[in-house]
Amino acid sequence: MSGVVVIGTQWGDEGKGKVVDLLTGEADLVVRFQGGNNAGHTLVVGGETYALHLVPSGILHKGKRSVVAPGVVVDPEVLLTEIRELKKRGVEVGPENLALSGKAHLILPYHNLLDEARENPPAVSGGDGRVRIGTTGRGIGPAYEDKASRQGLRLNDLLDLEVFRGKLESALLEKNCLLTGLYRKAPVKAEDLMAKARIWASELAPYVTDTFLLLLKAREAGKRILFEGAQGSQLDLDHGTYPYVTSSSTTSGGAATGSGVPFKELDRVLGLVKAYTTRVGEGPFPTELKDEAGDALREKGGEYGTTTGRPRRCGWLDMVVVRTARALSGVDGLAVTKLDVLRGLKELKIAVAYKTPAGRLEYLPQETRDLEGAVPEYRVFPGFSEDIGKARRLSDLPRNAREYLNAMEEEAGAPLALVSVGPERDETVILSKMFPA
Ligand code: IMP
Repeated sequence: MSGVVVIGTQWGDEGKGKVVDLLTGEADLVVRFQGGNNAGHTLVVGGETYALHLVPSGILHKGKRSVVAPGVVVDPEVLLTEIRELKKRGVEVGPENLALSGKAHLILPYHNLLDEARENPPAVSGGDGRVRIGTTGRGIGPAYEDKASRQGLRLNDLLDLEVFRGKLESALLEKNCLLTGLYRKAPVKAEDLMAKARIWASELAPYVTDTFLLLLKAREAGKRILFEGAQGSQLDLDHGTYPYVTSSSTTSGGAATGSGVPFKELDRVLGLVKAYTTRVGEGPFPTELKDEAGDALREKGGEYGTTTGRPRRCGWLDMVVVRTARALSGVDGLAVTKLDVLRGLKELKIAVAYKTPAGRLEYLPQETRDLEGAVPEYRVFPGFSEDIGKARRLSDLPRNAREYLNAMEEEAGAPLALVSVGPERDETVILSKMFPA
């Protein structure tokens, strides 16, 4: 087999949907290995816009298999809605092209309630001093917590509703204590949830399978597998700007643990880099532009969450962040997205280091608090005003854009693999084939 992993090198929203969709042309299977419907990948195919949250982007290609691996957390209601919507729009979705691991954990309504309650705790529960993460409110953290504490329910449990009920009732003992006692919410009733579970079970059962075996067979048959990361490196639970992170492994190592395909078989890692930086939710962001320049990037780049609609915080490209991601994930090639958004700016800035009270940093510090007062050290470049949407080779790009890209390669320590110059599939400069021949 050959395996290519696509990961975000920033704080998510790097435009992975389009790149994964593009690379799917070279792949046989596309695998989601972590995260859940906190992700939102927007794809524009043939003038049609698709926003996918759980189903791998490969679904939009005929003859490719999309796999939701054990490392993903699945909200069955969201998944079913997504499948129904895709079908309504004429996209083929069936067990032959979509496989769900029975080991994938479920996000159940009490996870969403707990996620929201933690973010907005009532004062009476002593909530005022809590750290707000600015989560997507999709129950991601609580679902991963249950997985880690071995109280989770998995897709497989839906295949036997009596087993499901037993586990649900046991989980609710604790959840309802928290919901009613600490957060002053109404309890979740097992019966209400069982009514939903019957629908989920009947509609999702055909897709549930052992994706370990499916992927093993694919590997033995020499298939090409694309691993579609969600979120970005600095949202990684272990390596990101904790506690302002998500609850899964967003770096390339997550592809191996989340899918069950050994890391030795992951040949290449493609690191997605948006040509500027965005972040949603709380947490440090040294190159943030809190002025009109940031607002202009947000409007031009359409920087509003695909999942929550929240406005994204915008700022200059930060190569401290990208360099750290390159090192964490072993990035072999950079896929630069949204370069076209920068058109018309008089000058472009790239942060190459931070000055902090503790000294000059070229990599993100271990402790997120140490970023307080970090002042970015910038390299400044002249902007470009030309329309770059028709560029298909690097040499088609204006000189100033190329200089900006060269600096990215230099500062990241990895070569360019592709540059996206517009939202459509073909609006791309492709520099190297990603799958080994
Ligand atoms: P959670 O994943 O919903 O728990 O949110 C934790 C943090 O990760 C918050 O700052 C979210 O805004 C951020 N986050 C989660 N998913 C995404 C994503 O797909 N793009 C960007 N930020 C995300």
